[in-house]
Amino acid sequence: MLKSAKFLWLVILVLLAALAFMVKTFIFTGNTIPSNDDRTAILVTEQERTMILGEMRKFLETIQSITEATAKGDLDTVADLATEMGAESPDMSPSLVGKLPIEFKTLGFATHALFTDLGVTAKGGDANAVQVELGDLMLNCTSCHADNKFVIEGTVEASQ
Ligand code: HEC
Repeated sequence: MLKSAKFLWLVILVLLAALAFMVKTFIFTGNTIPSNDDRTAILVTEQERTMILGEMRKFLETIQSITEATAKGDLDTVADLATEMGAESPDMSPSLVGKLPIEFKTLGFATHALFTDLGVTAKGGDANAVQVELGDLMLNCTSCHADNKFVIEGTVEASQ
């Protein structure tokens, strides 16, 4: 009786350790390795990389349109573009969400929220305030790019 209770405790402990490891990997560190250029390499499939890079290009295209509209004093268009980008949420599978480190997810969501804020500022009608806020927002872009890159799972780079 006592022996089997001990065994059960052992099984519970092993299961708890496995669960803790999964939570740590899935929620915090993601599927990452150090990269050869001092960034974090996030290992994803080719399709996942293609999808996220598509989202990235939408970011850049929106910023291009916002910059042009701001220069023309067309802040209504800026408000529409920024609000739309803020509301957009990329269609990510749970598997991809698990591969992204927590800082990446936090910064990604924060960037969308900053677009929403920019929309509110644009409605206020102050072009200079829009430019200042856009500059701040783009710090999210540059800091995330400075720290992260995507590497395709199973490639030579992924096993370095
Ligand atoms: C949470 C992290 C993160 C944020 C925030 C982020 N990016 Fe990226 N972006 C990445 C990563 C990672 C890559 C891939 C870099 C690599 O593999 O070298 C990338 C790639 C890109 C690319 C290249 C797309 C292609 O087709 O190759 C563009 C353009 C881009 N980002 C624009 C932006 C802009 C503009 C913003 C801000 C509005 C932004 N990104 C915010 C992480 C981010």
